[in-house]
Amino acid sequence: MTAVEPTPLSAHPGNALIGDIAVPGDKSISHRAVILGSLTIGATRISGLLEGEDVLGTIGAARQFGAHVDRSEDGSWVIEGFGTGGFSPPEDVIDCGNSGTGVRLLMGAMATSPVTAVFTGDSSLRNRPMGRVLGPISKFGANCIARLDRYLPATIVGADDPVPVHLELEVPSAQVKSAILLAGLNAPGRTVVTERVQTRDHTENMLALFGASVEIEECGGGRAISVGGHAELIPQTLTIPGDPSSAAFPATAALLTTGSKITVRGVCMNPTRIGLFATLQEMGANLRFENRRSECGEEVADIGAEFSTLAGVEVPPERAPAMIDEYPILAVAAAFAEGKTVMNGVQELRYKESDRLHAVARGLEACGVQVEEDEDKLIVFGNGPNGVKGGATCRASADHRIAMSFLCLGLASELPVVVDDTKSIATSFPQFARLMASIGADIR
Ligand code: S3P
Repeated sequence: MTAVEPTPLSAHPGNALIGDIAVPGDKSISHRAVILGSLTIGATRISGLLEGEDVLGTIGAARQFGAHVDRSEDGSWVIEGFGTGGFSPPEDVIDCGNSGTGVRLLMGAMATSPVTAVFTGDSSLRNRPMGRVLGPISKFGANCIARLDRYLPATIVGADDPVPVHLELEVPSAQVKSAILLAGLNAPGRTVVTERVQTRDHTENMLALFGASVEIEECGGGRAISVGGHAELIPQTLTIPGDPSSAAFPATAALLTTGSKITVRGVCMNPTRIGLFATLQEMGANLRFENRRSECGEEVADIGAEFSTLAGVEVPPERAPAMIDEYPILAVAAAFAEGKTVMNGVQELRYKESDRLHAVARGLEACGVQVEEDEDKLIVFGNGPNGVKGGATCRASADHRIAMSFLCLGLASELPVVVDDTKSIATSFPQFARLMASIGADIR
């Protein structure tokens, strides 16, 4: 096998970021649109679908399970589904690449249909915990055989005669919740999943949009979400809103770079996704949310971001699910703040595309920022505006959000920053470097 050459990029300070951009479609909503489109009989048309590697992997899986998926000339996608329970046996191993969302949702969706599928992924995904989904889907009657009982590759023998389940989430995870709800679609009766802390609710929203029976009850400080089984989903025409987790990069870069003023149009403002923006506002960020509207059952707005002087804050642990993917870029913002920023209850970051606490801490230290890292806590001692040295090569650890975070840091630091390998950015935000360049960022 020939080794794949790394693709380094360097970010150079000096330019203000000015302009108006739109980020690509939301990754979470895109995966769900492809999967739910596959579970209808008829044609679902999707505009603004994220065409990153992760979602393209889910499209590949949907095709293997029997959906017809095509890209139209106008850039929209059409999915001719096979209906709930209509999964065909895939001819080959399903490779979900780097995507935890893709593999966990797909395993859930097929677990209650009488098909067998083998799932794998890249070396990062093969080392991420899958027991959290395999346990719940076994309860529906699926038979799961996984490496060391909890890692990919995994073979799932879908249940012939599934039963509905009632489960409480052990870790706050929208991926696990979604796998359970999708499995429940082809079980008889109602499946109920309870979460103590609310996680992103795109699956619930989109199931309702597709005509499934979804009920949500507040209970003992948590939420019980139930879905009716043997559901007949109705094809939809959808426009995917912009991804707040992608908008986080240009918006934060603008806050940190002297003289900047940008607008990011059409960003999903679902309350379970905007913890970063709330935290940045508490730090003193000049952010505006305008032109609020609704798309795809989700609230959407244009975000205005201007250079701001930030102060460190303590981020409450219960906010973690609403900003779980944004801690790396928050840590970069914290490096430019006055005083320390304490991020509590962030242990889940160790199980993402990389160990993000470790990757962020090492990169910040290399750039001259003092950091304290605990099992489930990160403290960043800010150097103040224009106070971060940079001048280092940061390791992306094959993680898109780490790569983009350190490129943003390099736009505002004293000296340029190199990120050793940026190929991973294509999983969620393939146009990142081009879009950043369009507002003036010097990324080479
Ligand atoms: C996602 C949920 C989150 C998030 C991931 C996308 C989703 O993971 O980190 O990038 O689309 O459901 P967990 O639910 O495992 O925390």
